[in-house]
Amino acid sequence: MAKQATTKQSTTKQDSEQLDNTDKSGEKVTTPKSTASKSASSKTRDISLAAADMSAIVEQLNTLLANYHIFYTNVRGYHWNVRGSDFFTLHVKFEELYTALQVQIDEIAERILTLQGTPLHAYSDFLKISSIKEDKNVSDGVACVKGILTGLTMTIAKEREIIDLADEDDDQGTADQLTAYVQEQEKLVWMYNAYLG
Ligand SMILES: [Fe+2]
Repeated sequence: MAKQATTKQSTTKQDSEQLDNTDKSGEKVTTPKSTASKSASSKTRDISLAAADMSAIVEQLNTLLANYHIFYTNVRGYHWNVRGSDFFTLHVKFEELYTALQVQIDEIAERILTLQGTPLHAYSDFLKISSIKEDKNVSDGVACVKGILTGLTMTIAKEREIIDLADEDDDQGTADQLTAYVQEQEKLVWMYNAYLG
């Protein structure tokens, strides 16, 4: 952690020197911003991650964001449509899950912005790139739980992929955020499987 802070400081200092130099005649020379970024060894001035690495992680996070949105909407459908003797239990449990997914959706989008990317925000885009598919008009409790288990296991697999990529690129922030999701979702997989018996 301390090492990272040192790197960040020195990069920021280097950049400010490049952006605000004074030539021999005493006149101020302003280096164009794009040149300054290049000469700063492809590092950004904000969080000391290479622009190309951030861009690759952003792309993967947008795919994850798409998956989350479709999964979230599926779970809302299970919450509304589930019927049968376990209605009261499942209705509440599904609400807990979609509420957690909603919070994570916002955190993932804001991580994308932190990495200088733009989060996708249209369902037409989500539908194109999500590997989790829409699950319509499901009302049987067991079928709802199976749909949730599919969504959770696919989400965990995608998160693990991104954690590996983030680790390779020294992006501990993304890796740590997604690791917390994986831990929470693995526990849910255990509990929903326990419900199935
Ligand atoms: Fe509700």
